[in-house]
Amino acid sequence: MTMLKNIFPQVSEIPNEWQLNELIEQREYLVNGELRIWEGPMNEVVSPVSINNGTSVVKNIIGTTPLLTQKESLEALDAAVSAYNNGTGEWPTMSITKRITHIEQFLLEMKKQRGIVVKLLMWEIGKNLPDSEKEFDRTCIYIEDTIKELKKLDHDNSNFDVEEGVIAQTRRVPLGVALCMGPYNYPLNETFTTLIPALIMGNTVVFKPAKYGVLFIKPLLTVFKTCFPKGVINIIYGKGRETVGALMETGKIDVFAFIGTNKGASDIKRLHPKPNRLRSVLGLDAKNPAIVLPDADIENAVSECVAGSLSYNGQRCTALKIIFVQENILEEFIKKFVDGVSKLKCGMPWEKDVKITPLPEPGKTDYLTGLLNDAKLLGASVLNENGGEVNDTFFYPAVLHPVNSQMRIYSEEQFGPLVPIVSYKNIDEVIDYVVQSNFGQQLSIFGKDSKLIGHLIDEMANQVGRININAQCQRGPDVFPFNGRKDSAEGTLSVNDALRAFSIRILISTKDNAVNKEIVQTIVREHQSNYLRLDYIF
Ligand code: G3H
Repeated sequence: MTMLKNIFPQVSEIPNEWQLNELIEQREYLVNGELRIWEGPMNEVVSPVSINNGTSVVKNIIGTTPLLTQKESLEALDAAVSAYNNGTGEWPTMSITKRITHIEQFLLEMKKQRGIVVKLLMWEIGKNLPDSEKEFDRTCIYIEDTIKELKKLDHDNSNFDVEEGVIAQTRRVPLGVALCMGPYNYPLNETFTTLIPALIMGNTVVFKPAKYGVLFIKPLLTVFKTCFPKGVINIIYGKGRETVGALMETGKIDVFAFIGTNKGASDIKRLHPKPNRLRSVLGLDAKNPAIVLPDADIENAVSECVAGSLSYNGQRCTALKIIFVQENILEEFIKKFVDGVSKLKCGMPWEKDVKITPLPEPGKTDYLTGLLNDAKLLGASVLNENGGEVNDTFFYPAVLHPVNSQMRIYSEEQFGPLVPIVSYKNIDEVIDYVVQSNFGQQLSIFGKDSKLIGHLIDEMANQVGRININAQCQRGPDVFPFNGRKDSAEGTLSVNDALRAFSIRILISTKDNAVNKEIVQTIVREHQSNYLRLDYIF
Protein backbone atom coordinates (compact mmCIF):
# COMPACT_ATOMS: atom_id res chain seq x y z
CA MET A 1 0.00 0.00 0.00
CA THR A 2 1.77 3.10 -1.19
CA MET A 3 -0.56 5.27 -3.18
CA LEU A 4 -3.29 5.28 -0.52
CA LYS A 5 -1.06 5.21 2.55
CA ASN A 6 -1.98 8.69 3.73
CA ILE A 7 -5.34 9.02 2.05
CA PHE A 8 -7.37 9.41 5.27
CA PRO A 9 -7.08 12.66 7.21
CA GLN A 10 -6.26 13.26 10.82
CA VAL A 11 -9.10 15.15 12.50
CA SER A 12 -6.96 18.30 12.63
CA GLU A 13 -6.50 18.15 8.85
CA ILE A 14 -10.23 18.37 8.11
CA PRO A 15 -11.13 21.95 7.17
CA ASN A 16 -13.28 23.66 9.80
CA GLU A 17 -16.15 24.09 7.40
CA TRP A 18 -16.47 20.32 7.00
CA GLN A 19 -15.81 19.19 10.55
CA LEU A 20 -18.59 17.29 12.24
CA ASN A 21 -18.16 18.56 15.72
CA GLU A 22 -20.32 16.08 17.54
CA LEU A 23 -21.92 12.70 17.17
CA ILE A 24 -25.35 13.09 15.57
CA GLU A 25 -27.77 11.13 17.70
CA GLN A 26 -30.99 10.94 15.80
CA ARG A 27 -33.80 9.39 17.82
CA GLU A 28 -36.78 11.03 16.13
CA TYR A 29 -39.00 9.36 13.60
CA LEU A 30 -42.17 10.72 12.05
CA VAL A 31 -45.51 9.00 12.56
CA ASN A 32 -48.95 10.53 12.23
CA GLY A 33 -47.60 14.08 12.23
CA GLU A 34 -45.61 13.57 15.44
CA LEU A 35 -41.86 13.40 15.86
CA ARG A 36 -41.66 10.44 18.21
CA ILE A 37 -38.54 9.70 20.21
CA TRP A 38 -37.09 6.22 20.04
CA GLU A 39 -35.62 4.94 23.27
CA GLY A 40 -34.63 1.49 22.02
CA PRO A 41 -31.48 0.17 20.32
CA MET A 42 -29.72 2.42 17.84
CA ASN A 43 -27.81 1.75 14.65
CA GLU A 44 -24.30 3.19 14.33
CA VAL A 45 -23.69 5.34 11.26
CA VAL A 46 -20.15 4.65 10.10
CA SER A 47 -18.71 7.18 7.69
CA PRO A 48 -16.75 5.91 4.69
CA VAL A 49 -14.34 8.68 5.62
CA SER A 50 -12.19 6.87 8.15
CA ILE A 51 -9.80 8.77 10.40
CA ASN A 52 -6.03 8.54 10.68
CA ASN A 53 -5.29 8.71 14.40
CA GLY A 54 -1.56 9.10 13.86
CA THR A 55 -0.74 5.42 14.06
CA SER A 56 -3.56 3.70 12.21
CA VAL A 57 -6.76 4.21 10.26
CA VAL A 58 -9.81 3.87 12.46
CA LYS A 59 -13.52 3.47 11.92
CA ASN A 60 -15.37 6.77 12.08
CA ILE A 61 -18.76 6.66 13.77
CA ILE A 62 -20.58 9.90 13.02
CA GLY A 63 -24.01 9.23 14.43
CA THR A 64 -26.79 6.85 15.33
CA THR A 65 -30.27 6.23 13.98
CA PRO A 66 -33.23 4.31 15.44
CA LEU A 67 -33.54 0.57 15.00
CA LEU A 68 -37.31 0.52 15.01
CA THR A 69 -39.20 -2.72 15.25
CA GLN A 70 -42.20 -4.12 13.50
CA LYS A 71 -44.46 -2.38 16.03
CA GLU A 72 -43.39 1.19 15.15
CA SER A 73 -43.40 0.37 11.43
CA LEU A 74 -46.94 -0.86 11.64
CA GLU A 75 -47.92 2.28 13.54
CA ALA A 76 -46.48 4.32 10.68
CA LEU A 77 -48.47 2.24 8.22
CA ASP A 78 -51.65 2.66 10.26
CA ALA A 79 -51.13 6.42 10.18
CA ALA A 80 -50.74 6.37 6.39
CA VAL A 81 -53.74 4.07 5.98
CA SER A 82 -55.92 6.25 8.14
CA ALA A 83 -54.77 9.48 6.43
CA TYR A 84 -55.71 7.87 3.11
CA ASN A 85 -58.91 6.53 4.68
CA ASN A 86 -59.79 4.39 1.66
CA GLY A 87 -59.44 7.44 -0.58
CA THR A 88 -61.79 9.58 1.50
CA GLY A 89 -59.10 11.28 3.62
CA GLU A 90 -58.29 14.98 3.51
CA TRP A 91 -55.12 14.49 1.44
CA PRO A 92 -56.40 12.21 -1.34
CA THR A 93 -59.51 14.34 -1.80
CA MET A 94 -57.75 17.70 -1.51
CA SER A 95 -57.79 19.91 -4.59
CA ILE A 96 -54.63 19.76 -6.69
CA THR A 97 -54.06 23.47 -6.13
CA LYS A 98 -53.96 22.97 -2.38
CA ARG A 99 -51.72 19.91 -2.61
CA ILE A 100 -49.33 21.91 -4.75
CA THR A 101 -49.24 24.60 -2.07
CA HIS A 102 -48.07 22.02 0.48
CA ILE A 103 -45.31 20.81 -1.84
CA GLU A 104 -44.22 24.38 -2.59
CA GLN A 105 -44.01 25.10 1.11
CA PHE A 106 -41.97 21.94 1.60
CA LEU A 107 -39.58 22.95 -1.18
CA LEU A 108 -39.12 26.40 0.28
CA GLU A 109 -38.24 24.98 3.69
CA MET A 110 -36.10 22.19 2.25
CA LYS A 111 -33.94 24.68 0.37
CA LYS A 112 -32.99 26.27 3.70
CA GLN A 113 -31.40 22.96 4.74
CA ARG A 114 -29.05 22.74 1.73
CA GLY A 115 -25.82 23.31 3.64
CA ILE A 116 -26.30 20.62 6.27
CA VAL A 117 -27.80 18.10 3.83
CA VAL A 118 -24.85 18.49 1.45
CA LYS A 119 -22.35 18.15 4.28
CA LEU A 120 -24.02 15.00 5.60
CA LEU A 121 -24.18 13.48 2.12
CA MET A 122 -20.40 13.85 1.90
CA TRP A 123 -19.82 12.28 5.31
CA GLU A 124 -22.36 9.50 4.97
CA ILE A 125 -21.87 8.28 1.43
CA GLY A 126 -18.52 9.82 0.48
CA LYS A 127 -19.91 11.74 -2.49
CA ASN A 128 -17.69 14.65 -3.48
CA LEU A 129 -18.81 18.21 -2.81
CA PRO A 130 -19.89 19.23 -6.35
CA ASP A 131 -21.83 15.99 -6.81
CA SER A 132 -23.47 16.31 -3.38
CA GLU A 133 -24.49 19.88 -4.22
CA LYS A 134 -25.71 18.73 -7.60
CA GLU A 135 -27.78 16.00 -5.98
CA PHE A 136 -29.49 18.56 -3.76
CA ASP A 137 -30.06 21.15 -6.48
CA ARG A 138 -31.21 18.60 -9.02
CA THR A 139 -33.76 17.33 -6.51
CA CYS A 140 -35.12 20.85 -5.98
CA ILE A 141 -35.41 21.33 -9.72
CA TYR A 142 -37.13 17.97 -10.00
CA ILE A 143 -39.73 19.10 -7.46
CA GLU A 144 -40.28 22.40 -9.32
CA ASP A 145 -40.61 20.52 -12.62
CA THR A 146 -43.03 18.07 -11.03
CA ILE A 147 -45.29 20.93 -9.96
CA LYS A 148 -45.15 22.42 -13.47
CA GLU A 149 -45.85 19.04 -15.05
CA LEU A 150 -48.82 18.38 -12.79
CA LYS A 151 -50.34 21.71 -13.75
CA LYS A 152 -49.83 20.82 -17.40
CA LEU A 153 -51.32 17.35 -16.93
CA ASP A 154 -54.28 18.87 -15.16
CA HIS A 155 -54.69 21.44 -17.90
CA ASP A 156 -54.54 18.77 -20.62
CA ASN A 157 -57.28 16.88 -18.79
CA SER A 158 -59.46 19.95 -18.37
CA ASN A 159 -61.69 19.22 -21.33
CA PHE A 160 -64.41 16.84 -22.42
CA ASP A 161 -64.30 14.16 -25.08
CA VAL A 162 -67.41 13.12 -26.90
CA GLU A 163 -67.26 9.66 -28.47
CA GLU A 164 -70.09 7.45 -29.70
CA GLY A 165 -72.68 9.43 -27.77
CA VAL A 166 -70.69 9.47 -24.53
CA ILE A 167 -69.37 12.66 -22.94
CA ALA A 168 -66.31 12.05 -20.74
CA GLN A 169 -63.64 13.75 -18.76
CA THR A 170 -60.50 11.95 -17.54
CA ARG A 171 -58.71 12.81 -14.31
CA ARG A 172 -55.80 11.28 -12.45
CA VAL A 173 -56.34 10.14 -8.86
CA PRO A 174 -54.09 8.50 -6.25
CA LEU A 175 -53.55 4.77 -5.78
CA GLY A 176 -53.45 4.56 -1.99
CA VAL A 177 -50.59 4.01 0.43
CA ALA A 178 -47.10 4.09 -1.05
CA LEU A 179 -43.97 2.60 0.45
CA CYS A 180 -40.95 4.54 -0.83
CA MET A 181 -37.39 3.29 -0.46
CA GLY A 182 -34.34 4.78 -2.09
CA PRO A 183 -30.74 3.71 -2.76
CA TYR A 184 -27.59 4.78 -0.91
CA ASN A 185 -25.89 6.22 -3.99
CA TYR A 186 -28.58 8.89 -4.54
CA PRO A 187 -30.31 8.77 -1.17
CA LEU A 188 -31.91 12.17 -1.62
CA ASN A 189 -32.51 12.46 -5.34
CA GLU A 190 -33.67 8.99 -6.26
CA THR A 191 -35.86 8.72 -3.19
CA PHE A 192 -37.50 12.06 -3.81
CA THR A 193 -38.16 11.24 -7.46
CA THR A 194 -40.70 8.73 -6.18
CA LEU A 195 -41.68 10.31 -2.86
CA ILE A 196 -42.68 13.70 -4.26
CA PRO A 197 -44.76 12.38 -7.19
CA ALA A 198 -46.42 9.91 -4.80
CA LEU A 199 -47.38 12.73 -2.44
CA ILE A 200 -48.41 15.30 -5.00
CA MET A 201 -50.78 12.82 -6.64
CA GLY A 202 -52.59 12.35 -3.32
CA ASN A 203 -51.13 9.10 -2.03
CA THR A 204 -50.06 8.82 1.58
CA VAL A 205 -46.57 7.52 2.20
CA VAL A 206 -44.36 5.45 4.45
CA PHE A 207 -40.78 6.38 3.64
CA LYS A 208 -37.83 4.33 4.77
CA PRO A 209 -34.47 5.95 4.02
CA ALA A 210 -31.70 4.00 2.29
CA LYS A 211 -29.19 1.81 4.15
CA TYR A 212 -26.56 4.55 4.08
CA GLY A 213 -27.37 8.21 3.69
CA VAL A 214 -29.83 8.41 6.57
CA LEU A 215 -28.68 11.18 8.88
CA PHE A 216 -29.24 13.87 6.26
CA ILE A 217 -32.99 13.25 6.60
CA LYS A 218 -32.82 14.55 10.19
CA PRO A 219 -32.91 18.25 9.23
CA LEU A 220 -35.81 17.49 6.89
CA LEU A 221 -37.95 15.66 9.46
CA THR A 222 -39.40 18.85 10.90
CA VAL A 223 -39.97 20.19 7.40
CA PHE A 224 -41.99 17.10 6.51
CA LYS A 225 -43.86 17.34 9.79
CA THR A 226 -44.88 20.98 9.36
CA CYS A 227 -45.63 20.94 5.64
CA PHE A 228 -48.04 17.99 5.43
CA PRO A 229 -51.22 17.02 7.26
CA LYS A 230 -50.73 14.29 9.86
CA GLY A 231 -50.23 10.77 8.56
CA VAL A 232 -49.61 11.86 4.96
CA ILE A 233 -45.88 11.22 5.25
CA ASN A 234 -44.41 8.86 7.82
CA ILE A 235 -40.68 8.21 8.13
CA ILE A 236 -39.29 5.07 9.71
CA TYR A 237 -35.78 3.71 10.31
CA GLY A 238 -34.36 0.28 10.92
CA LYS A 239 -33.49 -3.02 9.33
CA GLY A 240 -35.42 -3.89 6.20
CA ARG A 241 -36.47 -7.35 7.32
CA GLU A 242 -37.82 -6.01 10.65
CA THR A 243 -39.71 -3.09 9.21
CA VAL A 244 -40.51 -3.36 5.51
CA GLY A 245 -41.35 -7.07 5.56
CA ALA A 246 -44.02 -6.48 8.19
CA LEU A 247 -45.53 -3.64 6.18
CA MET A 248 -45.77 -5.66 3.02
CA GLU A 249 -47.29 -8.67 4.77
CA THR A 250 -50.30 -6.59 5.84
CA GLY A 251 -51.39 -6.24 2.21
CA LYS A 252 -52.08 -2.56 2.90
CA ILE A 253 -49.32 -1.22 0.67
CA ASP A 254 -50.74 -0.20 -2.72
CA VAL A 255 -47.57 1.12 -4.37
CA PHE A 256 -44.05 -0.12 -3.82
CA ALA A 257 -41.43 2.35 -5.00
CA PHE A 258 -37.98 0.89 -4.61
CA ILE A 259 -34.57 1.64 -6.04
CA GLY A 260 -32.12 -1.15 -5.24
CA THR A 261 -31.31 -4.70 -6.24
CA ASN A 262 -33.71 -6.91 -8.14
CA LYS A 263 -33.25 -9.59 -5.48
CA GLY A 264 -34.21 -7.13 -2.74
CA ALA A 265 -37.24 -6.00 -4.71
CA SER A 266 -38.53 -9.50 -5.41
CA ASP A 267 -37.98 -10.62 -1.79
CA ILE A 268 -40.15 -7.72 -0.59
CA LYS A 269 -42.76 -7.90 -3.35
CA ARG A 270 -43.50 -11.55 -2.79
CA LEU A 271 -44.55 -10.84 0.81
CA HIS A 272 -47.65 -8.99 -0.36
CA PRO A 273 -50.66 -11.28 0.12
CA LYS A 274 -52.69 -9.65 -2.66
CA PRO A 275 -50.18 -9.10 -5.45
CA ASN A 276 -52.79 -7.81 -7.90
CA ARG A 277 -53.39 -4.85 -5.62
CA LEU A 278 -49.75 -3.86 -5.63
CA ARG A 279 -48.22 -1.56 -8.22
CA SER A 280 -44.42 -1.55 -8.29
CA VAL A 281 -42.15 1.20 -9.49
CA LEU A 282 -38.65 -0.22 -9.47
CA GLY A 283 -35.15 0.90 -10.47
CA LEU A 284 -32.85 -2.11 -10.21
CA ASP A 285 -29.48 -3.57 -11.22
CA ALA A 286 -27.72 -2.74 -14.47
CA LYS A 287 -24.59 -3.72 -16.36
CA ASN A 288 -24.50 -0.99 -18.98
CA PRO A 289 -21.94 -1.68 -21.71
CA ALA A 290 -19.93 0.84 -23.70
CA ILE A 291 -19.32 -0.30 -27.27
CA VAL A 292 -16.33 1.35 -28.89
CA LEU A 293 -16.37 0.95 -32.67
CA PRO A 294 -13.16 0.96 -34.73
CA ASP A 295 -13.75 4.46 -36.11
CA ALA A 296 -14.63 6.05 -32.76
CA ASP A 297 -13.25 9.44 -31.81
CA ILE A 298 -10.91 7.95 -29.23
CA GLU A 299 -10.46 11.13 -27.19
CA ASN A 300 -14.20 11.50 -26.76
CA ALA A 301 -14.78 7.77 -26.16
CA VAL A 302 -12.07 7.70 -23.50
CA SER A 303 -13.25 10.78 -21.65
CA GLU A 304 -16.89 9.62 -21.68
CA CYS A 305 -15.90 6.09 -20.63
CA VAL A 306 -13.67 7.32 -17.79
CA ALA A 307 -16.44 9.57 -16.46
CA GLY A 308 -19.11 6.99 -17.25
CA SER A 309 -17.38 4.17 -15.42
CA LEU A 310 -15.78 6.05 -12.54
CA SER A 311 -17.74 9.14 -11.57
CA TYR A 312 -18.80 8.68 -7.96
CA ASN A 313 -16.49 5.65 -7.97
CA GLY A 314 -18.72 3.79 -10.42
CA GLN A 315 -21.56 3.75 -7.88
CA ARG A 316 -24.27 4.89 -10.27
CA CYS A 317 -26.91 2.52 -11.57
CA THR A 318 -26.27 4.13 -14.97
CA ALA A 319 -22.47 3.72 -14.78
CA LEU A 320 -20.69 2.01 -17.65
CA LYS A 321 -19.90 -1.35 -16.10
CA ILE A 322 -18.16 -3.09 -18.99
CA ILE A 323 -16.33 -1.65 -22.01
CA PHE A 324 -16.14 -3.48 -25.34
CA VAL A 325 -13.38 -2.19 -27.62
CA GLN A 326 -12.75 -3.33 -31.19
CA GLU A 327 -9.37 -5.06 -31.31
CA ASN A 328 -7.88 -2.75 -33.98
CA ILE A 329 -8.03 0.24 -31.65
CA LEU A 330 -7.58 -1.61 -28.39
CA GLU A 331 -3.99 -0.57 -27.75
CA GLU A 332 -4.61 3.12 -28.31
CA PHE A 333 -7.85 3.06 -26.30
CA ILE A 334 -6.28 1.29 -23.35
CA LYS A 335 -3.26 3.60 -23.28
CA LYS A 336 -5.46 6.68 -23.22
CA PHE A 337 -7.99 5.17 -20.85
CA VAL A 338 -5.33 4.20 -18.31
CA ASP A 339 -3.85 7.67 -18.65
CA GLY A 340 -7.29 9.20 -18.01
CA VAL A 341 -7.80 7.06 -14.91
CA SER A 342 -4.37 8.03 -13.54
CA LYS A 343 -5.44 11.70 -13.63
CA LEU A 344 -8.44 11.14 -11.36
CA LYS A 345 -7.64 12.71 -8.05
CA CYS A 346 -8.21 10.53 -4.99
CA GLY A 347 -9.13 12.07 -1.68
CA MET A 348 -11.81 13.11 0.74
CA PRO A 349 -15.18 14.38 -0.54
CA TRP A 350 -14.55 18.04 0.31
CA GLU A 351 -11.14 18.25 -1.42
CA LYS A 352 -10.98 20.37 -4.54
CA ASP A 353 -11.23 18.44 -7.83
CA VAL A 354 -11.39 15.10 -6.05
CA LYS A 355 -13.02 12.35 -8.09
CA ILE A 356 -12.33 9.08 -6.28
CA THR A 357 -13.50 8.84 -2.70
CA PRO A 358 -14.00 6.16 -0.02
CA LEU A 359 -16.82 3.64 -0.39
CA PRO A 360 -19.75 3.56 2.06
CA GLU A 361 -20.72 -0.12 1.93
CA PRO A 362 -19.05 -2.23 4.63
CA GLY A 363 -17.08 -5.06 3.04
CA LYS A 364 -17.15 -3.42 -0.39
CA THR A 365 -13.38 -3.28 -0.86
CA ASP A 366 -13.19 -7.02 -0.07
CA TYR A 367 -15.95 -7.71 -2.57
CA LEU A 368 -14.17 -5.74 -5.29
CA THR A 369 -10.86 -7.43 -4.46
CA GLY A 370 -12.64 -10.78 -4.81
CA LEU A 371 -13.92 -9.82 -8.27
CA LEU A 372 -10.48 -8.61 -9.25
CA ASN A 373 -8.73 -11.77 -8.03
CA ASP A 374 -11.25 -13.96 -9.79
CA ALA A 375 -10.54 -12.13 -13.05
CA LYS A 376 -6.80 -12.35 -12.50
CA LEU A 377 -6.98 -16.09 -11.86
CA LEU A 378 -8.79 -16.48 -15.17
CA GLY A 379 -6.21 -14.49 -17.13
CA ALA A 380 -6.92 -10.77 -16.68
CA SER A 381 -4.29 -8.22 -15.71
CA VAL A 382 -4.61 -4.94 -13.88
CA LEU A 383 -3.42 -2.42 -16.45
CA ASN A 384 -3.00 0.68 -14.34
CA GLU A 385 -0.43 1.43 -11.70
CA ASN A 386 -1.81 0.99 -8.15
CA GLY A 387 -5.03 -0.48 -9.59
CA GLY A 388 -6.92 -2.39 -6.90
CA GLU A 389 -4.86 -1.00 -4.03
CA VAL A 390 -6.94 -0.86 -0.85
CA ASN A 391 -6.74 1.13 2.34
CA ASP A 392 -9.70 0.45 4.62
CA THR A 393 -12.76 1.83 2.76
CA PHE A 394 -10.73 3.18 -0.16
CA PHE A 395 -10.30 1.21 -3.38
CA TYR A 396 -8.02 2.61 -6.05
CA PRO A 397 -9.69 2.15 -9.48
CA ALA A 398 -8.51 -0.92 -11.37
CA VAL A 399 -8.68 -1.35 -15.14
CA LEU A 400 -8.88 -5.03 -16.10
CA HIS A 401 -8.02 -6.64 -19.42
CA PRO A 402 -8.44 -9.13 -21.07
CA VAL A 403 -11.84 -9.96 -19.67
CA ASN A 404 -13.86 -12.96 -20.79
CA SER A 405 -17.19 -14.61 -20.08
CA GLN A 406 -15.72 -16.98 -17.47
CA MET A 407 -14.99 -14.14 -15.08
CA ARG A 408 -17.54 -12.89 -12.57
CA ILE A 409 -16.85 -9.27 -13.55
CA TYR A 410 -18.15 -10.06 -17.07
CA SER A 411 -21.74 -10.41 -15.90
CA GLU A 412 -21.87 -9.29 -12.24
CA GLU A 413 -22.66 -5.65 -11.48
CA GLN A 414 -19.60 -4.39 -9.59
CA PHE A 415 -21.08 -1.00 -8.57
CA GLY A 416 -17.60 0.26 -7.77
CA PRO A 417 -14.29 1.43 -9.26
CA LEU A 418 -13.43 -1.70 -11.23
CA VAL A 419 -13.43 -1.33 -15.03
CA PRO A 420 -13.43 -4.46 -17.19
CA ILE A 421 -12.36 -4.03 -20.82
CA VAL A 422 -13.27 -6.71 -23.34
CA SER A 423 -11.75 -6.70 -26.81
CA TYR A 424 -13.88 -7.93 -29.69
CA LYS A 425 -13.26 -8.78 -33.32
CA ASN A 426 -16.78 -8.95 -34.66
CA ILE A 427 -19.65 -6.71 -33.50
CA ASP A 428 -21.93 -9.76 -33.26
CA GLU A 429 -20.01 -10.80 -30.12
CA VAL A 430 -21.15 -7.58 -28.46
CA ILE A 431 -24.72 -7.84 -29.72
CA ASP A 432 -24.81 -11.33 -28.26
CA TYR A 433 -23.62 -10.01 -24.87
CA VAL A 434 -26.40 -7.44 -24.78
CA VAL A 435 -29.08 -9.91 -25.88
CA GLN A 436 -28.01 -12.56 -23.37
CA SER A 437 -27.56 -10.16 -20.44
CA ASN A 438 -29.96 -10.36 -17.50
CA PHE A 439 -30.04 -6.59 -17.44
CA GLY A 440 -31.29 -4.03 -19.90
CA GLN A 441 -31.01 -0.49 -18.65
CA GLN A 442 -28.86 1.48 -21.13
CA LEU A 443 -25.82 1.24 -23.39
CA SER A 444 -23.40 3.60 -25.10
CA ILE A 445 -22.12 3.34 -28.67
CA PHE A 446 -18.99 5.25 -29.70
CA GLY A 447 -18.29 5.60 -33.41
CA LYS A 448 -18.84 7.58 -36.62
CA ASP A 449 -20.10 5.04 -39.14
CA SER A 450 -23.78 6.00 -39.33
CA LYS A 451 -24.71 2.81 -41.18
CA LEU A 452 -23.21 0.61 -38.47
CA ILE A 453 -24.62 2.76 -35.67
CA GLY A 454 -28.05 2.64 -37.33
CA HIS A 455 -27.77 -1.15 -37.52
CA LEU A 456 -26.77 -1.38 -33.86
CA ILE A 457 -29.67 0.82 -32.80
CA ASP A 458 -32.03 -1.57 -34.57
CA GLU A 459 -30.37 -4.61 -33.02
CA MET A 460 -30.43 -3.17 -29.48
CA ALA A 461 -33.69 -1.20 -29.41
CA ASN A 462 -35.59 -4.13 -27.89
CA GLN A 463 -32.89 -4.80 -25.30
CA VAL A 464 -32.47 -1.61 -23.26
CA GLY A 465 -34.29 1.55 -22.22
CA ARG A 466 -31.86 4.05 -23.70
CA ILE A 467 -29.16 4.01 -26.36
CA ASN A 468 -26.55 6.77 -26.01
CA ILE A 469 -24.49 7.72 -29.05
CA ASN A 470 -20.99 9.05 -28.36
CA ALA A 471 -21.96 9.75 -24.77
CA GLN A 472 -21.89 7.92 -21.46
CA CYS A 473 -25.10 6.48 -19.99
CA GLN A 474 -27.09 8.73 -17.68
CA ARG A 475 -30.51 9.24 -16.21
CA GLY A 476 -31.00 12.91 -17.02
CA PRO A 477 -32.36 15.22 -18.24
CA ASP A 478 -35.15 14.17 -15.87
CA VAL A 479 -37.91 14.99 -18.33
CA PHE A 480 -36.79 12.02 -20.44
CA PRO A 481 -38.04 8.51 -19.65
CA PHE A 482 -35.82 6.48 -17.34
CA ASN A 483 -36.51 2.76 -17.26
CA GLY A 484 -35.02 -0.62 -18.07
CA ARG A 485 -35.82 -4.06 -19.44
CA LYS A 486 -35.43 -7.54 -17.91
CA ASP A 487 -34.13 -7.36 -14.30
CA SER A 488 -33.24 -3.67 -14.52
CA ALA A 489 -36.54 -1.95 -13.78
CA GLU A 490 -40.28 -2.04 -13.58
CA GLY A 491 -42.19 0.98 -14.82
CA THR A 492 -40.83 4.20 -16.21
CA LEU A 493 -39.81 7.32 -14.37
CA SER A 494 -39.48 10.84 -15.70
CA VAL A 495 -41.02 14.00 -14.34
CA ASN A 496 -44.16 13.23 -16.31
CA ASP A 497 -44.13 9.41 -16.09
CA ALA A 498 -43.73 9.46 -12.32
CA LEU A 499 -47.01 11.35 -11.98
CA ARG A 500 -48.64 8.63 -14.02
CA ALA A 501 -46.90 5.83 -12.11
CA PHE A 502 -48.37 7.04 -8.80
CA SER A 503 -51.90 7.59 -10.05
CA ILE A 504 -54.71 5.99 -11.98
CA ARG A 505 -57.17 7.51 -14.41
CA ILE A 506 -60.74 8.06 -13.40
CA LEU A 507 -63.24 8.61 -16.16
CA ILE A 508 -66.36 10.66 -15.46
CA SER A 509 -68.82 10.04 -18.22
CA THR A 510 -72.46 10.44 -19.20
CA LYS A 511 -74.72 9.83 -22.16
CA ASP A 512 -74.87 12.80 -24.47
CA ASN A 513 -78.39 14.18 -23.91
CA ALA A 514 -79.85 17.50 -22.84
CA VAL A 515 -80.48 16.56 -19.19
CA ASN A 516 -77.00 15.15 -18.63
CA LYS A 517 -75.34 18.07 -20.40
CA GLU A 518 -77.16 20.48 -18.14
CA ILE A 519 -76.02 18.54 -15.02
CA VAL A 520 -72.41 18.50 -16.19
CA GLN A 521 -72.49 22.16 -17.16
CA THR A 522 -73.94 23.18 -13.82
CA ILE A 523 -71.31 21.19 -11.88
CA VAL A 524 -68.59 22.90 -13.88
CA ARG A 525 -70.10 26.39 -13.83
CA GLU A 526 -70.87 26.33 -10.12
CA HIS A 527 -67.55 24.64 -9.19
CA GLN A 528 -69.45 21.80 -7.54
CA SER A 529 -66.68 19.21 -7.97
CA ASN A 530 -62.91 19.08 -7.42
CA TYR A 531 -62.65 16.59 -10.26
CA LEU A 532 -65.26 17.45 -12.87
CA ARG A 533 -64.17 20.95 -13.75
CA LEU A 534 -62.67 23.11 -16.47
CA ASP A 535 -60.63 25.62 -14.51
CA TYR A 536 -56.97 26.15 -15.17
CA ILE A 537 -54.33 25.92 -12.44
CA PHE A 538 -51.76 28.67 -12.98
O1 G3H B 1 -27.96 5.46 -9.80
C1 G3H B 1 -28.73 5.75 -10.72
C2 G3H B 1 -29.02 7.18 -11.00
O2 G3H B 1 -30.35 7.41 -11.32
C3 G3H B 1 -28.16 7.66 -12.08
O3 G3H B 1 -28.39 8.96 -12.36
O4 G3H B 1 -27.15 8.99 -14.50
O5 G3H B 1 -27.80 11.08 -13.39
O6 G3H B 1 -26.01 9.66 -12.40
P1 G3H B 1 -27.26 9.71 -13.21
